[in-house]
Amino acid sequence: MKVVCPSFSGIYEPNVEIRQFPDGDSYVRVPNAKEAMGKNAILFTRLYPNQDSAIFQTLLVLRALRENKARSITLVVPYLPYSRQDKTFKEGEVKSAEILCETLREQGVSHLITFDCHFLKREGEFEYGGLKITNLSMNKEIIGRAREIAGGELEIMSPDEGANYLVKEFGGSSMKKVRAGYGEGEGAAGGEEGEIYRGIGKMEMEKDVGGKCVLIIDDMISTGSTMLKAVENVKKGGAKKVICAATHGFFLKDSLKKLREECEKVFVTDSIETEASEISIKPAIEKALEQM
Ligand code: R5P
Repeated sequence: MKVVCPSFSGIYEPNVEIRQFPDGDSYVRVPNAKEAMGKNAILFTRLYPNQDSAIFQTLLVLRALRENKARSITLVVPYLPYSRQDKTFKEGEVKSAEILCETLREQGVSHLITFDCHFLKREGEFEYGGLKITNLSMNKEIIGRAREIAGGELEIMSPDEGANYLVKEFGGSSMKKVRAGYGEGEGAAGGEEGEIYRGIGKMEMEKDVGGKCVLIIDDMISTGSTMLKAVENVKKGGAKKVICAATHGFFLKDSLKKLREECEKVFVTDSIETEASEISIKPAIEKALEQM
């Protein structure tokens, strides 16, 4: 049984009703909830943008499926919010990623399917926060598309070692990125009042990219600081053409515009719908569901 939230409309036809009360509370209704009885329900939802309300709405949909006695629930979430908060640095902080996964499990999710999840750092099967997770990677599709664009030799790089898993099977290499402290470093200056952001301290590159066409691939482009710094590096190194790509594109502030000014091409998947989304995650979702 497929249960599709409106946020998934670019991929499947929605059959869940989500609206808002005048005070901002969410109204959620699963009209076919009764069909869940004894079945494996597959719930499709995007949890970005507006992650906090999207998470709560998902909990309401899960409750409707459980109250109607779904046998199991597989949740498909292309980009998992809070996935960059799996560690604590200061006393009193919490691991938001773990809390989200634990909550989903407690609310009846038996299996989560997601893409290039930041804290998992490779494709495969995992258990985290007690939740079974299948982490799919879009690296093959992204690199394939970049090769078409390049039309010849392509040097593949990731901007940091955390994203090395995206490039290593294709003979790619990684730059070394060191984050600055909170509110410090390149890219942090654009932060707004109350925003928590760690800029880039430094980024080093050993590879010789002189005269080459370079793809820089990352799991996500958020404020764009990482990608912009990586582009600066390869251009300083003499790259003749630069392509930037990621699985998840947030493109906060004016980062898409800035990247487009600096590169020949910028593209992402539709895990988050953006004007730079060129690769569909749908075939990968369908393949993963077939293999379940
Ligand atoms: C961090 O390690 C991630 O892989 C990305 O490089 C990072 O989150 C991108 O963020 P931003 O675009 O704000 O630099």
